[in-house]
Parts: sequence; C-alpha cells; structure tokens
Amino acid sequence: MKNINKLIWILLAGFLLIQLFRPENINDGKPTQDLVNVPKEVNTILRNSCFDCHSSEANLRWYDKITPANFLVTSHIKEGREALDFSKWNSWPKLQQNSTIYYAINKVLSGEMPIPSYAAIHSSAKLNERQIEILKNYALSLASRKISDSSQISSAEKQYNSWINGELKHPTVKPSPNGMQYIPDYRNWKAISTTDRFDNGTMRIIFGNDIAVKAIQEKNTNPWPDGTSFAKTAWKQRVNNDGSIATGEFVQVELMVKDAKKYEKTKGWAWGRWKGNDLKPYGETPDFDKECIECHKPMENRDYVFTSPLYLISQLKKIQK
Ligand code: HEC
Ligand code: HEC
Repeated sequence: MKNINKLIWILLAGFLLIQLFRPENINDGKPTQDLVNVPKEVNTILRNSCFDCHSSEANLRWYDKITPANFLVTSHIKEGREALDFSKWNSWPKLQQNSTIYYAINKVLSGEMPIPSYAAIHSSAKLNERQIEILKNYALSLASRKISDSSQISSAEKQYNSWINGELKHPTVKPSPNGMQYIPDYRNWKAISTTDRFDNGTMRIIFGNDIAVKAIQEKNTNPWPDGTSFAKTAWKQRVNNDGSIATGEFVQVELMVKDAKKYEKTKGWAWGRWKGNDLKPYGETPDFDKECIECHKPMENRDYVFTSPLYLISQLKKIQK
C-alpha cells in the first residue's frame, strides 16, 4: 500500500513537472472574421468545427493546454493552418473562395475533416447530419450551372464544325515536351467513365484502348498491362434551356500510356496533355510530368490510375442475392 502511494506521488510530481514544458503560444488573439459571401449558417458550422485548426483563432479548451496534449493540438493547428487558413479568406478572389469551400466541404463529406480523433474529444467540432446537409446544399448551390449564352454556344459550335470539316490536321500536333506523341485515334477508344466538375463547369470523359478494355473485362487492372492507354478529355459544360447538359467547348485531352520498363522513371506511364483548339502540348520542360505524377500519387497502390472500372453485372448479382 505504501509503495502504491509513493508511486502516485511520483507520477503526480512528474505530471506537474512536465507542465513546465509548453509548446509556443499559437494564439495571436485576433478573432477571425466571418467569411464574406458565405451564408450565416455555413459560417457558424465552419467556425465551430474548423476554425480551431484552420484560422488564426484557435479556441483552446482547458484540456488542450495540459502537457503533453498541448503539443499534439499545437502541431495539428500549425499543420492545419498551413494547409488552409480561413483568416486569409477576404484576400482571395471569388473563384478561389468558391473552389476552396467546395474542396473543404468535400473533405467533410468524405469523413476526413474535422480530424476524427479531434472531433471525438471536442464535441463542438463534431458535425451532425443536419449540419452536413447544410454544407452539402451550399456546395451544390455553388455550381456554375447557368444556362449557356448564345456566344458560348456559337463558339462551341464553330469549333465543332471546324473539327468535323477536317480543318484540324493531326500531323500538325506537336509531341509533348517529354517526347510523348499525340494519339489522334483515342476518339475511337471506348468511353469507360465520365466525371462532372460542376464547381468549375467542366465535364470529362475517360477513354480506354482495347488493351485497357480487355484488362477491365479480365479484372487484370493492378498493375495495368503494358500497352494500356487512357485518354481524358475535358469539355466546358453547355447548359441548354431545358437544363440538359452537353459538351461545349473543348478544353484539353490528357493521355497516359503504360510501359513498365520504358517509362520506369515516370512510374511506368508516359504522360501528356494537349490544350485548346490547336492541341498545343502542355509543359515547358521534359520533366513537366512531375506535376501529373504528384497529383496521381494518392493512387500509388492502384498503379497511379484514378478511374476504377464499374463491374455492373457482378454488382447487380450481389444486389439480387
Ligand atoms: C484538429 C485540427 C483540425 C480540425 C478541427 C480541422 N482540420 Fe482540416 N486539416 C488539419 C490538418 C492537420 C490538415 C493537414 C493535413 C492533412 O491534409 O490531413 C488539414 C487539412 C485540411 C484540408 C486540406 C487542405 C489541402 O490543401 O490539402 C482541408 C480542405 C480541410 N482540412 C478542411 C477542414 C474543414 C472543412 C474542417 C471543419 C469541418 C476541418 N478541416 C477541421 C487539421 C484540422
Ligand atoms: C490536380 C490533380 C491532377 C493533376 C495535376 C493531373 N491529374 Fe490526371 N486525373 C486527376 C483525377 C482526380 C482524375 C480522375 C478523373 C477525374 O476526376 O476527372 C485523373 C484522371 C486522369 C486520366 C484518366 C485515367 C485515370 O487515372 O483515371 C488521365 C489519362 C490523366 N488523368 C492524365 C493526366 C496527365 C497527363 C496529367 C499531367 C499533364 C495529369 N493527369 C495531371 C487528377 C489530376
């Protein structure tokens, strides 16, 4: 019994002693303004759930100030502010505000934010279903889906007609700075997926060549076999009067071609992007494709490919069971 008492005293003394060690003060005491152009409800939610780590105003609770918890909280806050600082909101152009908030709400919907371990302890940061619904509706309301005006439609049509009439001759398309050749035949590949970026008003169609399609059928997609090729085309959305959406002006096409050995240095893929009406190759230097690889890196375990094929028939069978 005596020994246990002694142990408790030692632990207590140790605990008091480490309180002398504290992280630097992270609060400069400046309250963060509400985000302009954002509804009040949304502001309240972000303030309660996100501002602790994503603004200059961290509302530390008493238990966040105890060593060693304070070191963890401070490092979260520092890292969080670096990634996204809502205190700078007013200095951003409207477009950046919209895309930031769209991205932020997506982080909430995917369950990544607020950091779950933090929300577990800080109940005010936790979001309930109604709050998530408010954020979701707000993200949807940002959609730049206005009916296309006549000049947008006529420029898209002019472009389409010029292409149909063969004004754009493939031999004039230059290779990408890393040496990758443009592949005009991608238009004859199969469309394997589409994505909709309603926040910036584009739609994308992803095509796969025969080897890609066969690999999908045989579920042989990780890694993808050599020769697999993907094209991703992006179009501006053309919104018709009845609300239906079609492809408008062409933005760009991106290509990925797999050869594990030949393209070993760039993760087994050749990368290229051609932009605009005249298919101008994108990039200044041969290693411009670093940028592609960097953004595809989260898919490292899936051979750097985002698009996951849908197995509709096997899915249907599962549902029927
Ligand atoms: C406990 C601190 C904490 C809270 C609370 C928190 N975050 Fe974060 N957040 C971080 C940290 C740390 C990072 C950077 C590391 C990472 O991406 O996981 C981050 C990253 C992000 C990013 C990515 C920024 C980028 O450029 O990649 C977004 C967006 C984001 N948070 C949104 C939110 C939203 C919205 C909320 C509130 C609903 C929220 N966060 C609440 C700590 C926090
Ligand atoms: C900002 C991040 C980002 C960058 C930079 C990026 N991609 Fe992607 N890429 C994506 C996402 C996300 C997808 C999934 C489809 C979608 O959402 O449009 C994708 C899909 C693709 C696809 C279809 C195959 C797949 O992975 O799903 C190709 C081809 C492609 N990208 C090529 C490129 C090339 C070439 C570059 C560089 C010139 C590049 N990408 C740069 C994010 C990026």
